[in-house]
Parts: sequence; C-alpha cells; structure tokens
Amino acid sequence: MTKDRKVFSCQECGYASTKWLGKCPSCGAWNSFHEENKNGHRNLSSGEMSRPVLLKDITFDKQSRLLTGIGELDRVAGGGLVPGSVILLAGEPGIGKSTLVLLVASNLAEKGKKVLYVSAEESPGQLRVRSERLGIKNTENLFLLSENEIRAAENAIESVKPDAVIVDSIQMIYDSDFDYPCGSVFQVRRTAQFFIENAKKSHAPVFLIGHITKEGSIAGPKILEHIVDVVLYFEGDRLSNLRILKGNKNRFGSTEEIGVFRMDENGLIEVPDSSRLFLSNNNTSQPGLVIFPSQEGKRTILLEIQSLITPSYLAVPRRTFTGLDYNRVNLVIAVLEKKLRINLGSRDVYFNVSGGLKISEPAVDLAVAVASISSYKDVPPLSQTVFIGEIALTGEIRPVQHLINRLKESARLGFKNAFVPAESGNVSVAGMKIFQVRWLGDAVNLAFKKV
Ligand SMILES: Nc1ncnc2c1ncn2[C@@H]1O[C@H](COP(=O)(O)OP(=O)(O)OP(=O)(O)O)[C@@H](O)[C@H]1O
Ligand SMILES: [Mg+2]
Repeated sequence: MTKDRKVFSCQECGYASTKWLGKCPSCGAWNSFHEENKNGHRNLSSGEMSRPVLLKDITFDKQSRLLTGIGELDRVAGGGLVPGSVILLAGEPGIGKSTLVLLVASNLAEKGKKVLYVSAEESPGQLRVRSERLGIKNTENLFLLSENEIRAAENAIESVKPDAVIVDSIQMIYDSDFDYPCGSVFQVRRTAQFFIENAKKSHAPVFLIGHITKEGSIAGPKILEHIVDVVLYFEGDRLSNLRILKGNKNRFGSTEEIGVFRMDENGLIEVPDSSRLFLSNNNTSQPGLVIFPSQEGKRTILLEIQSLITPSYLAVPRRTFTGLDYNRVNLVIAVLEKKLRINLGSRDVYFNVSGGLKISEPAVDLAVAVASISSYKDVPPLSQTVFIGEIALTGEIRPVQHLINRLKESARLGFKNAFVPAESGNVSVAGMKIFQVRWLGDAVNLAFKKV
C-alpha cells in the first residue's frame, strides 16, 4: 500500500516539499507554499479510456497548417499553425505580445476563421483602442471576452466554437474552485491544461500569452514550456523599436528561425528583408568594426561586431561582451595572446553586436579576432569585407555551416571581399574576392595589408 503523503509546492517556482515551509529554499519567496491537490486526476472507466492504434492507421492532412498571414510568425512557427497546437508566446511586459496576437486574430478572422480572444488583462474598450491603432477592419469573426474566470472562457468556447483561441495572459486566468492565487503555479498549470485539452479536442490552435521578467524568473511560462507544443519568445531592446520573434521549442519545425518586426505608432510592422537592417548606412571602415554574416535559420543577417580595446586602470581589466558568448570571446582572446603575441592583459576589452542581437555560433570567431586586432592597432581592416570562420585553439580557421548562403547575401548587399576557412572546398561567388585562410596569423596579415 502506498503511504498517503502530503505534498506542498511553492507557488512561485514549483519547488515541492513534504512539509510546509515559510520560505522557499529554491526561489526565496515567503509564504508561497500550498498543499498540492490530489483530486486533480479523474478515474476513468475502461469504456472512457483510449486504446492504442497502429501508427500507419493514423490519418493526417499535410496541407492543413493554418497560415496567420503574418509571414514572419508563420515562418518561425515552422510554416503556419498546426491544428490543435498550443503556442506559448512569452515576453517581457510591454514588448508587444498583445499587439502581435491581436494582429493574428484579425488576420485569421478576415480569412473567415472564427477567433476567440480571451483578454484577462484588458477591457473591451482598451482592445478597441488598440485595434483602431492597428487599423483592424471590422469583422464578423473576431469575438472578444474580457474575463478572468476559466468557466467564462469555457462557456464562450462552447457557444462560439472558435477555429483559434487566444488567451491573454495565462497568468491572469484562474479557476475559482481552487483557493490558489491568480498566477500561482497551480492556477497557471490548471488553466493551461484546460486550454490544451480543448485544443487537442477541437483542433483549434491556441495561443497562450505568458509574462516573463528580465531575469526570466516568473514561474508561469517556465513551467508551461514542456507541456505546450511551441514556445516563442518575443524580445527586443526597449530603446529600439525592433522586435524579434524567436522559437525556443517547436514540435513541428526548426527553432533556428527568427522573425523581425518594427513597432511604431501604427502598430507592429513586419521586416521581411532584414539582412542589412543592423548595419549602419555609413559604409566607411572604422577601427574595431567588422561585418559578420550571421545565419538565423534560413536567413542571413549581416551584423556589425564592434570592439573597443583601451588601456585599463583597474587591477582586473574589464571584459564586457554584449551579444556574444563570454567564454567563446575569451577563448579567441587567449588564442590572440598565445599565437599572435598580442598582450591584452592590461587592456579593457569591450564587444558589442549591432541591434541587440545575440550570436552563439562559433563562425563569428574570426570576426571577433579581426575586430580585436583592429581596435588594438587602431587600424580598420580591409574595407567592404566580411569575415567568417571558427578558430581552433591551435589558431587554425575551421569550416562553418551555410557558407555559400552567407557569401551570396553579403555579395547581394555590396560586399566585395570575404575571408573564409581554407577547408571550405571550391567557393566562388560572382562579384566577390574570396580569401581562403588556414591560420589566424595569415588572415590577420591579409586583413591589415595595405592594398
Ligand atoms: N502609439 C504608439 N506608438 C508607438 N508604440 C506604441 C504605441 N502604443 C503602444 N506602443 C508600443 O506597444 C507596446 C505595448 O504593446 P502591448 O500592449 O501589445 O504589449 P504587451 O507585451 O502585451 O504588454 P503587457 O505585458 O502590458 O500585456 C508599448 O510598450 C509600446 O512599445
Ligand atoms: Mg498585453
């Protein structure tokens, strides 16, 4: 016989304990422990239970993905919305989540799909103001429900029978049968479960909006990540009007794609040709500035890698790398010190990537190395040039993925030279001079040779 043990869980982070605790040892929240409800599972009779079926007998329609009409979103979602899928759209407060989903709702409604927008945060009047700002046309198919209680959403779904549901936000919806606060782990899990079950039953895709703080510390979206099909993050720099939609998990597509938008007074505008969006219009080469064609899914985006190396007045020199992997840049600096005898031990080193984008691929190594030397020597590298290559600890330049895509896009945007790894096979792109380099030292000699 199993012993009937009580379980208490922290409603902030989900930490479970067999006794009640005043302070959570995991997240430090006070008074956040509630006893877990054990009646969450139904006991099914044998007639209600699903039976196993053969994989080959399951039918599906390849063409059935629902296109939202927002190309950037459809691409990130893997080519439209899969029927019955649950998409979690997470982002910091005020980044534009409601704006994006209202656009999705209106596009689907215009296509004749019935959409139910459950807004637990805003009144119908506020939604109307936003829809005016976005220029949304009046449509018969867009239903709004301004409610926090799950039962109201349940009734609305039954009466409207929508083809898509939007829940804004999942942290603000609660089930009043349970005495847990709104936004607690229990409520978020319970209400999400309801919408997930509904999506699987009715085949209507559902968007769940989730808030996330700067530190990503709100438990709500984090605990949902493994139970939903797709997790999209809507990010952006508060100071710029650019917004980036990224796939973090996708059961039906790649997570490498990104979608780029611009937020202005008329709403959220797609930026389909974003290749040169992050480059300054000033084409002159400058010390410490190197162009790197970064690959985001199927798309190449040219980014500026900016480096500033200055004498340090601190006991431990400063290393600030924004948008780049900290360990990777330190590795490149170590190779520069060892192989090229460049002493950065008494220098502060700063790096920045234009547009607030983050690069995690090692193909950026060569650009980082050339930018460092350029700033160190205060000499610009060869002009109109892109640098691509991973650097091994030996100083050898290693091949990278998607080289031809990167070169073609760079050539299209007017770049005349490219430094690429020697072992990339026969590479040629019309209008571009290709320097195939094997060693970091050779690359540096060529990049700073006066021509
Ligand atoms: N008139 C305007 N001109 C330019 N930008 C605007 C205007 N009105 C709103 N915005 C932008 O839209 C953002 C709010 O969008 P939205 O309400 O969709 O965000 P959200 O992520 O849903 O926020 P919340 O977390 O509060 O729900 C603002 O932070 C601002 O950047
Ligand atoms: Mg909102």
